[in-house]
Amino acid sequence: PQTREYTFNITQALSAPDGFQKPMIVINNQFPGPLIEANSGDTIRVHVNNLMANWSTTLHWHGIDQKNTTWMDGVAAVSQCGIPPGDNFTYEFTVSDQRGTFWYHSHLSVQYTDGLFGPIVIHDPSEMVEEVDEERIIFMGDWYHTYGSVLVASYLNPTSTWMNGESGVEALADNLLINGRNIYNCSVISTTFPPNHDGQPSPKCDESQGRRYTTTVEKGKAYRLRLINHSTFFSFWFSIDNHTVEIVEIDGVEVKPIPFRGVNVNIGQRYSVIVRTNQTAGNYYMRASFPTTCFLPFVPYNSSGLDSTNYQVMGVLNYDGTDPSAPPIGSPGNTSNPFGAEDNPYNYLVYEGCNDMPFNMPVPLRAKPAYDVSSGLNMHYLEYEFRQSQNDNRIFVNQTSWAPLENNATLWKTIGQNFTGPGGGYNHWGYSLDQQVLLVRDAGRNEGVQVVINSLDGMEHPWHLHGHEFQASYFAIVGWGKGMYGQGQPTSWNLDNPMRRDTVSVPALSHIVLRFLADNPGMWALHCHVAWHMEGGMFVQVLERPYDLMDMLKTKLNPRVKAKSMRFCYKSG
Ligand code: C2O
Ligand code: CU
Repeated sequence: PQTREYTFNITQALSAPDGFQKPMIVINNQFPGPLIEANSGDTIRVHVNNLMANWSTTLHWHGIDQKNTTWMDGVAAVSQCGIPPGDNFTYEFTVSDQRGTFWYHSHLSVQYTDGLFGPIVIHDPSEMVEEVDEERIIFMGDWYHTYGSVLVASYLNPTSTWMNGESGVEALADNLLINGRNIYNCSVISTTFPPNHDGQPSPKCDESQGRRYTTTVEKGKAYRLRLINHSTFFSFWFSIDNHTVEIVEIDGVEVKPIPFRGVNVNIGQRYSVIVRTNQTAGNYYMRASFPTTCFLPFVPYNSSGLDSTNYQVMGVLNYDGTDPSAPPIGSPGNTSNPFGAEDNPYNYLVYEGCNDMPFNMPVPLRAKPAYDVSSGLNMHYLEYEFRQSQNDNRIFVNQTSWAPLENNATLWKTIGQNFTGPGGGYNHWGYSLDQQVLLVRDAGRNEGVQVVINSLDGMEHPWHLHGHEFQASYFAIVGWGKGMYGQGQPTSWNLDNPMRRDTVSVPALSHIVLRFLADNPGMWALHCHVAWHMEGGMFVQVLERPYDLMDMLKTKLNPRVKAKSMRFCYKSG
């Protein structure tokens, strides 16, 4: 094993990835940020210099389980306080038994909306994915020409109309990007030109600065595309004209290849797909399309230059020998998610086309049975609800709405607490009401934790768990329905070798059951990855094996790291 060392200088910069100049946050002047590449077993060390003028920051390594290093998880107010402006912090962790495609992003408020993210690839010679000729990383995501902090403030403002199913702020994406690129139609800005913010000079728009992501491939080869969705709000259906994709990896879990015409990628999720360049030489569009029918009530089709025909971003697959600027050939076929009308039980609603593939469709190659939960020690239920009040819009999970602590991280608050009390449910020793945690106790054997997520909401949400990959066992084409777990509607189970992943799309008005193994003491986040929702409180903390955690904090945490991390909590910025 080796140590892979990186230095990240984080700065604010005016930049125009799609031709429209906006204030961004970038790493080493790159967007998306630099690639972190390592082998399973390696140690990754990243020196982060926060060179921003007045914002704190953190970096989170999405999907990396941080086995025995919960304090390196990079979640502001949970595992550390933000790195103040002008200060620095070194993240260091070992990638144990993981491999595949991951990413990193700021985990402080909605900072990643402005560009603070990048890819992580973990190699392993024993990975059970077909060897290909080459690979490419394909980031896709929504893009906002105004600072995320400005947008989220108006999203949570009670005058915003998101609760009413009207043109809510959720939909104010100005553009969509593939690998940080697209072309913005500058002629639409006359009506939607955002105001100056943060004292930045007036943004400029120059269409000729925008371009599509274009990648050259050779005919007759196999390519592994590592798809990552970095959106703040949008999920995508990804496809390539005239080509099929073969899904081989999902959130770092290798699966029996699934040949398909495309793949649905929600926020935070990753898929590796193999594409064979077996078509006539030419240019072909790759497309990330937003399932508009899915969010019909929430999406104003004619604002911001995005409309029902261009809720889609294209990149170009350029066969070697073809002029990359020649018009693409090929046809998109059906670019929408097939798990729509025909498979969706919610046809009585307008939300068709939002569903992920059936949860029992992917079969992990490293098979694991569902974790046993028979002692009943760690059973949790979550339900969430959007509420609009006089003062603000918040999202409540089990009647509480998460908000970051001002000047502390809950990890540090666990020290010296007494964690006895009623088990299994919500506990909040030492926490204010909006800092509630799910308590996961040590069952003294390899026992699982079960979390049921009940959705009372009419939209699909991508839930992400830190510190673990989880098993989502639920859902066949039969056996779903409106309503809550155990309340009359059947639950379908897959306990033999259920799909494991770290980010799951919980469909509208239904429930899913997750299990993970309580083998990683820590303070972990479990939240919706829609950044607006996360900031609105759709977030809980999982406190796993608190006594073992306290031991680790005493014996395994380097005192220098601890001193630095805790010191941030008492510095302003
Ligand atoms: Cu991708 Cu809690 O994060
Ligand atoms: Cu959400």
